[in-house]
Amino acid sequence: MKHKKLGLALAAGLLSTTMMAQQIPQLTANNIDEVLAAMTIEEKAQLLVGGGNPGFVGSGAMLGHQKKIVAGAAGTTVAIPRLGIPATVVADGPAGVHIDAHRDGTDQTFFATGFPVGTCLASTWNTALVEQVGRAIGNETLEYGVDVILGPGMNLHRNPLCGRNFEYYSEDPVVTGLIGTAMVQGIQSQGVGVSAKHYAVNSQESDRTRVDERVSQRALRELYLKGFEMMTRRSQPWTLMSAYNKINGTYAQGSKDLLTTVLRDEWGFKGIVMTDWIGKRKDLPVAQEVTAGNDLMMPGYPAQAQEIIDDVKAGRVDIKDVDRNVRNMLEYIVRTPRFKGYKFSNKPDLKAHAEITRQSSTEGMVLLKNTGGTLPIRHLKTVALFGVNSYDFLSGGLGSGCVNVPYVVDMVTGLKNVGVSTTPQLTEIYQNYVKYAKAKLKADKNPMMWFLDQGQPKLDEIEISERCAATEAKLADAAIITIGRQAGEGMDRQIEGEFNLTDNEKKMIFRVSDIFRAAGKPVIVIINSGSVMETASWRDRADAILVAWQPGEEGGNSVADVLTGKANPSGHLTMTWPIAATDHPSTKNFAPQYDMYTYRTMEDWGAGNIPGVDFCNHEEDIYVGYRYFDTFRRQVAYPFGYGLSYTTFAFANPSVRVKGNNVEVSITVKNTGSVAGKEVAQVYVQAPKGAYEKPAKELKAFAKTRELKPGESETLKMVIEKRDLASFDEAGSQWKADAGTYVFKFGASVEDIRATSSLKLDGYTEKVNNVLASQQPLNLLKQ
Ligand code: BGC
Repeated sequence: MKHKKLGLALAAGLLSTTMMAQQIPQLTANNIDEVLAAMTIEEKAQLLVGGGNPGFVGSGAMLGHQKKIVAGAAGTTVAIPRLGIPATVVADGPAGVHIDAHRDGTDQTFFATGFPVGTCLASTWNTALVEQVGRAIGNETLEYGVDVILGPGMNLHRNPLCGRNFEYYSEDPVVTGLIGTAMVQGIQSQGVGVSAKHYAVNSQESDRTRVDERVSQRALRELYLKGFEMMTRRSQPWTLMSAYNKINGTYAQGSKDLLTTVLRDEWGFKGIVMTDWIGKRKDLPVAQEVTAGNDLMMPGYPAQAQEIIDDVKAGRVDIKDVDRNVRNMLEYIVRTPRFKGYKFSNKPDLKAHAEITRQSSTEGMVLLKNTGGTLPIRHLKTVALFGVNSYDFLSGGLGSGCVNVPYVVDMVTGLKNVGVSTTPQLTEIYQNYVKYAKAKLKADKNPMMWFLDQGQPKLDEIEISERCAATEAKLADAAIITIGRQAGEGMDRQIEGEFNLTDNEKKMIFRVSDIFRAAGKPVIVIINSGSVMETASWRDRADAILVAWQPGEEGGNSVADVLTGKANPSGHLTMTWPIAATDHPSTKNFAPQYDMYTYRTMEDWGAGNIPGVDFCNHEEDIYVGYRYFDTFRRQVAYPFGYGLSYTTFAFANPSVRVKGNNVEVSITVKNTGSVAGKEVAQVYVQAPKGAYEKPAKELKAFAKTRELKPGESETLKMVIEKRDLASFDEAGSQWKADAGTYVFKFGASVEDIRATSSLKLDGYTEKVNNVLASQQPLNLLKQ
């Protein structure tokens, strides 16, 4: 009897659970429609608004707010336990997983590998290597319990002064698109997602949250959107991050043209769009964002969710748009490791990843100058190391893009690891100074303070006296001077003292150079900067110049490998190094030169019409980077695509042929020198004249050889889609390649063309939507 009762009770229990389960579906990959149908409007609104970022003032009060799931991660999506919807975690990148290294209540550390910054990775021109780095970053993302890494950074280097250029790849959309594709494929192969950012035209940091980037449809399509387009079509990123800025009068995060018409309808994007991290904007209704196809508002504020609810109730937002975004969110969530219950280890293989970072940073370094074969110095014994960044080597940039790395190999250690010692007294002076300067920076509580937790700030240089340089010249076989540059989020760079050398740096280079050269000893300059700087006024004083970028935690080892010939440099510039910053036509209407901390307070915002602040006219139009310098024949310090090697290469047998919708090109590269090395073949195309002007030539493809032994050759094959040969014809809202002769120029830089081949092509047109047009007249640069 007793058993019967129990049996009945059990059956009733089972029944009610079954009924409940029927009424309240629990999310699976196959019941998204059912879950959507079961959601209340409050739950839907919650899912479209992030769980808040504990670091953001006032953002923590949200209903369903997630406590720190992964300490130091940038944000979360909201959990809805009733429907079996877990919170997911997003953390910053792009140079590695940005999370806290230390957590309360445990001695365990959570360091992440510091990989090379974007400019360094792109300068490898090696998509396979970038994909390998992507796999390692993806693995750390997964093993630290993060679902999406907020990267890669894919904005174009419109101007060398942009403070975040170090996070981005290039001034060229094809480099951006193909390197971005490799990175996304690598990361996503690990079962985690990316958030490619900042879509689009986030070309300056000053006033980035409100500046209106006014730009022609042609420049948008051919340059600023093109890299995102190539990457999206090729690798289907899980998420994209909409930029803070406006484009032609509309906030990117509220632009249906950008987020739906172009991104989804034209390119076939299937993932979610999240905003960049901002609160509720006074001048942008949440309704507009929802309708535009911005699925997720980050980091998420309660007022935004409430606004969605109110808007739906008042008919200001169509529930169909809300449901579409919620469905996108659910489709995203079911792919995440957190949803799948992946048991992350919190112990990625940092050692193996250090090896990958070392290899990739070595390959990204660019040798700018090497008079008389100064490098490699194979029998180097003792060097005098000048410059504060020799001792405080900058592994990455500042702001959200920094990584809490376990260590940074500085130059002293890197050289020591290959058996080269540094002069003891100078080393001691600098090392003590670095300790002092760091402590002082902390104590001073200057406005740069937030950077102390967000990367390594640049310390001031010390003055090098003649006596010091003379003493060192007696003790050392060579002088190495490291010139460091730091930059980061929220600030653009100044020309004086940032793009250009400071007086102290100039004095140091000139003094050390005079004295060491008089003693018959070489002077080598290492540029430890994520982006471009001035070189023309001082490069004569150096026998060799190596751009090490901000190469990640293994930096000093990579530099030492290159200096001593253990590695042969094969990096090439992915942006022009101009003689002066003002040589770029965009400089005249780029953000004004000011320090954001001394310029305005929040109250000053919204004045409305300050050039470079409230709006930025892209008068240079399509003539960004080499497209300008090459077409207008302006001299540069080092051209786009440039980079020396310890060996020499010859290009032969250029071939081009049409196959279906593609053009297949190939070139044979031979190592004609005496040491092994890799070379990049860059394919520039000169299009036939048509109804509108075109740049002299444009990069359309590239490939890198494997390591070739002296005398060895490799034939590199590349495919260019016909549609990628087209220009954007605004009048017809179409991609248009004119019929005629296309000249394919194979080069080792934009100025160093080694082989040429031509092809007659039929015309090609592809209609697209007439969207995103400039609302203001622009005085565009013409040939
Ligand atoms: C940055 C993004 C970053 C986000 C989250 C923003 O300020 O622009 O790049 O991913 O913060 O930290």
